[in-house]
Amino acid sequence: MALLRRFDLSLFVLFLLAMFLLSCQIRADDEKEQLLQDLNKYRASLNLSALKENDNADCLADQLAQQYKSQPCSNTTGADTVPGTETQFSNYPDLLAHCKLNTTDTRDGQIMPACVPGLVPSQVLSNYTKTQYNSYLNDSQYTGSGIGSEGNWIVVVLTTDTSSGNFAPATSLAPKIDVTCSLLTLLLGFCLLLVS
Ligand SMILES: *[C@@H]1O[C@H](CO)[C@@H](O)[C@H](O)[C@H]1NC(C)=O
Ligand SMILES: *[C@@H]1O[C@H](CO)[C@@H](O)[C@H](O)[C@H]1NC(C)=O
Ligand SMILES: *[C@@H]1O[C@H](CO)[C@@H](O)[C@H](O)[C@H]1NC(C)=O
Ligand SMILES: *[C@@H]1O[C@H](CO)[C@@H](O)[C@H](O)[C@H]1NC(C)=O
Ligand SMILES: *[C@@H]1O[C@H](CO)[C@@H](O)[C@H](O)[C@H]1NC(C)=O
Repeated sequence: MALLRRFDLSLFVLFLLAMFLLSCQIRADDEKEQLLQDLNKYRASLNLSALKENDNADCLADQLAQQYKSQPCSNTTGADTVPGTETQFSNYPDLLAHCKLNTTDTRDGQIMPACVPGLVPSQVLSNYTKTQYNSYLNDSQYTGSGIGSEGNWIVVVLTTDTSSGNFAPATSLAPKIDVTCSLLTLLLGFCLLLVS
């Protein structure tokens, strides 16, 4: 009897875990998918090719979003940054290396961070299409993209078809689920171990 109950409990926790993982995955991908769709609609309206998803650029965008996360939005950050005063992260080479990238294959890419409270889709889109970033989005030189988001920040990385901007080497092994989700999932998994 006790054995049965314990079995039921671990099944239940397993079920919770599965549901949780699923919802994390969907939520984390939501605003990125939305922005990519919106950007590609915009590109289509200009007769430009759709941006293809680039896994390494995705990885770098995620890493950068995590760096920006703790910074508050202001009228001099994100899309409002004065050109030439972009935030420099001293660990940028590490972020590149983490995504199996280096300065050679990313040189011609573009990094475009935006800060929008709540990441409201329409405001996010206009932060790209109605700002300095527009001159990159309407450029046929860029053919691929990666998007990452954390908190109020979203980062779009544009890639080119050339060896100096195609973010090429090896498919990245970086996880696609965000850190909070992974941690919570780990915790739930640990609970499962405890009850079983
Ligand atoms: C896009 O292409 C269509 C058909 O070729 C043309 O009618 C339209 O003016 C073009 N739009 C732009 C923004 O170039
Ligand atoms: C940014 O906001 C500050 C204070 O709210 C204001 O003084 C400044 O003029 C603004 N700068 C721009 C570029 O809008
Ligand atoms: C960057 O990576 C490419 C491909 O892995 C390699 O050929 C190149 O030498 C690297 N460049 C630097 C500066 O590390
Ligand atoms: C960008 O987003 C900020 C924050 O939501 C908003 O205040 C600003 O108007 C947006 N900029 C554009 C050009 O849409
Ligand atoms: C691209 O955007 C820039 C800046 O908004 C603008 O000056 C330029 O005319 C645009 N080019 C095209 C082809 O739409």
